Parts: sequence; structure tokens; C-alpha cells
Amino acid sequence: MPSAPTIAPLGPDHAAAARDLTTAVGWSHRREDWLLALAVGRGLGAFDGDGALRGTLMWFPYGAAFGFVGMIAVDPARHRGGIGAALMARAIEDAGERALLLISTVAGRRLYDRLGFRAIGANAAHVGIADKGGPSDGVSPARPDDLPQLAALDGAALGYPRDALIAALAADGETAVVRDGEAIEGFAICRRFGAGHVIGPVVAADPGQACRLIGWWLARRRGETVRIDVPAEHADLAAWLAARGLPRGGESPIMVRGAAPVSGTGVQRFALVSQAMG
Ligand SMILES: CC(C)(COP(=O)(O)OP(=O)(O)OC[C@H]1O[C@@H](n2cnc3c(N)ncnc32)[C@H](O)[C@@H]1OP(=O)(O)O)[C@@H](O)C(=O)NCCC(=O)NCCS
Repeated sequence: MPSAPTIAPLGPDHAAAARDLTTAVGWSHRREDWLLALAVGRGLGAFDGDGALRGTLMWFPYGAAFGFVGMIAVDPARHRGGIGAALMARAIEDAGERALLLISTVAGRRLYDRLGFRAIGANAAHVGIADKGGPSDGVSPARPDDLPQLAALDGAALGYPRDALIAALAADGETAVVRDGEAIEGFAICRRFGAGHVIGPVVAADPGQACRLIGWWLARRRGETVRIDVPAEHADLAAWLAARGLPRGGESPIMVRGAAPVSGTGVQRFALVSQAMG
């Protein structure tokens, strides 16, 4: 039986080894996806005595009151050896007073239940080859000086701030907006991820606006693999996506440990950044 690994911070030098671990559990993160996560979040690794990486976890501080946990992956040869639990214990300690959110896989559910997480919703990935766009009247590319408004809209929709994340995503990908004069009413970021593109976050005033923003991106990604993570409450959007080549996968619970965030009114989140970042 191998001795218990040491839990220590992950940095950019670990991105390739971390990518190898997430590939081993069946996820499609590229090294670049890991580098982006490490630039905006806090990484933890489980290291054997010889320095080999056996487990990963990222957590993303969203203001003083919330954090999101993801990319929890343990070397399949070492499952059920306590590494996942050790990574989670360290993340909970490092996050201090923050409430922690995550989206659970089937494999992780018992661990999170045991740690006091409870389900507050569900999310499902829509993945497929984009086969048509949709009406996208009023949608245009964002300008660099739109960034503060994008971060403010995202924070209003979620009930906690993610300014550093939104800035990193906007720099990594491209952003489409709906504006009324100088005021931005909704936006959708599209960026490379894994073997294709991800559309998200999508923040909009209503479902029609969300479809126009997503339709704008689907028209530009026609014939390519696209992923969009849509919370369960947006059933109409889910059906609309399925009709465009992006069927809905199985639902995964959105869980919280601590007080659940209170979303704002007037603007809603229609698609996540990802299951790992919320
Ligand atoms: C989910 C995951 C991270 C859990 O990691 P892990 O290191 O296997 O988890 P742990 O060993 O800490 O705990 C898992 C189970 O092993 C058990 N366990 C822990 N130490 C053990 C030991 N020495 N002997 C036998 N079982 C043990 C735990 O009790 C737990 O069992 P239970 O869930 O039936 O109660 C891992 O299965 C994984 O990488 N899965 C694929 C990726 C994934 O789904 N990640 C979660 C994303 S949200």
C-alpha cells in the first residue's frame, strides 16, 4: 500500500502532469485549459514522495464569501485510497469562512455528501456539432472597455463577484454582447476548450436574449464541436439547443457547503463557464 501523498499547491509547472491526470479520468482539458485555471484559481496537488502527481483539485475564490471547487481528479490506480478526501479537506481549510460550491460527478457524490455539501440545483452539458445558428439581431462583438460591465452583470446574476475570472475568459476567448446605448444587457463568451469550443458564461435579461447571443456563436462555429453547460431551470433553452445539434447530457447536482448564494433579479445566468468553475 503506497504511503499517503503530500498535499501541496499546484503551479504552472504542474500543468502538463495535471492535464495527464484529467485525461486519465476521461476529461478533455488541454495544458492551456489548466494554465488558465491555475492563473485565476488555487491549485492543490497530491504528490508521492518521488514528486509524482496523483491527484488534483482547483478552487476558485469568488469574493470573500464564496468559492467554487472543481477539477478534482485522482489517478485511477489510486482511487479509494483517501486522496480525494485529503484534497477536499485541504481546500475546505484553505477556503476558510467561504461557502463552497461544486458540481458533483457520480463518482464524487458520496464524498461531498459526507463533507456536508447539499444539492441546490442541477446542470447538464450540451455537447455536439453545431449545425445551425439562430436569429441574432442586436448582437455584436464586445469592446475592450466593456469588461467592467461584463463582470458586473455576471456578479449580479450569480450573487457573488468573479471579476478576475471574467477578465481572464474575455482575454482568452471572444465576447458577444447585446447593448442598449452604452449599457450592456447581456453577453456570451466563446473560447477554445478541450477538443472544441465552449460557449459560457451566458448572462442575459431573458431567454430570448440568451438564444440570440448563443445563436450568434453557433452560426460562427457551425460544423465544430461545441459545449454549453445549462442549469436545469432553463428547460426551454435546453430544447432549443437540442434542436441545433447540441443534445442535453445527464444532469449533475450543483452542491453547496454553507449558505447558498442569492442570485440577483433582472439578469440571469443561462450557461456556466464550465462544470469546474461554475
Ligand atoms: C471522485 C474522486 C476524486 C474520489 O477520489 P478518491 O481518492 O478515490 O476518494 P477517497 O478515496 O478519498 O474516497 C472515495 C471512497 O474511498 C473510500 N476509501 C478511502 N480510503 C480508503 C481505503 N484506505 N480503503 C478503501 N476505501 C477507502 C472512501 O470511504 C470513499 O468511499 P465511499 O465513497 O464509498 O464512502 C475519484 O474517484 C476520481 O478522480 N474520479 C474521477 C473524476 C471525478 O469524477 N472527479 C469528481 C469531480 S466533481
